[in-house]
Amino acid sequence: MTVKARAFANIAFVKYWGKRDARLVLPHNGSLSVALDFLSTETSLDLLSRSADRDELTIDGVAATERERARTSAFLDAAFGNDRARACIVSQNSFPTAAGLASSASGFAALALAAAEAYGVPASVDRSALARLGSGSAARSIPGGWAEWRRGEQDDGGDSLAVQIAPPSHWDVRLIVALTMMGRKEISSRDAMARSVETSPYYDGWRQSSPRDLEGARSAVLARDLRALGEIAEHSCLKMHALANTARPPAIFFEPATLAAWRAIQGLRAQGTPVYATVDAGPHLVALCAAADAERVERQLSATPGVVRTICCAPAGAAEVLA
Ligand code: DP6
Repeated sequence: MTVKARAFANIAFVKYWGKRDARLVLPHNGSLSVALDFLSTETSLDLLSRSADRDELTIDGVAATERERARTSAFLDAAFGNDRARACIVSQNSFPTAAGLASSASGFAALALAAAEAYGVPASVDRSALARLGSGSAARSIPGGWAEWRRGEQDDGGDSLAVQIAPPSHWDVRLIVALTMMGRKEISSRDAMARSVETSPYYDGWRQSSPRDLEGARSAVLARDLRALGEIAEHSCLKMHALANTARPPAIFFEPATLAAWRAIQGLRAQGTPVYATVDAGPHLVALCAAADAERVERQLSATPGVVRTICCAPAGAAEVLA
């Protein structure tokens, strides 16, 4: 029987950047995001007969690389046990993968949901904790909407879950993705954050200051305070990049066009449009603004040298098993 699930990507305003436990994917700090309606992954999963000895994986119509397949199998083993039946997985993204657009978040969330259903995991088992084992940010794509992934205090990660703090309808903002460069990025967020934890002299500062960012961002979302959320988002983003930039060797994600887009956002703000920027572990920028200002922001970003395309997203909901 085929199980199909869909999940949306998310963009974090308080970033997750560093694990305290790599095996259980437990973060050093809590994070907060919103799900993006235009960026989604649909995944179909079939359990194979017991004689099959490996998982099969197709992404966007082509057979996955050995590396992608191994990471997926390792995730399924960690979440559902080594003696599970192997699976045939077909995953389709609505956007370019591995270009820093958080495809691992929607990808692992959709996969976790479909697999939990196929393997008969009771509904009482939190799906965000399963998705987390595939990719940390995927935990937040399970509840969707305005989501917070809690750091948790337990060593076994039992309390490191993601919850929806407000539904997508709570706040009519737009998230405008400015794609600055197509193609795959050079270093994964997984490797870059591990290197940041180990070698950036600023990591302690990150760990100490993130809880306050999280509290401030949560309050700003609940109060629909764009300026408060935007200022924290830019701060958390630039701190995260400061960690990556000061790792040894460094992981530099900004391209000239990323900085040009950041300047464009500052320019709009100086002219009175409340709009804020954030950048994940890739060269693309995401602008946060009110729905009423989205057209102006999109026009400005499209006219920025090096920006190849813009995608305007609204908040999206939870990951779902599809009929
Ligand atoms: C910059 O979730 O991709 O997007 O857990 O190692 O798979 P792994 O990392 P991943 O990292 C996301 C980093 C980020 C910030 C964020 O989404 O919070």
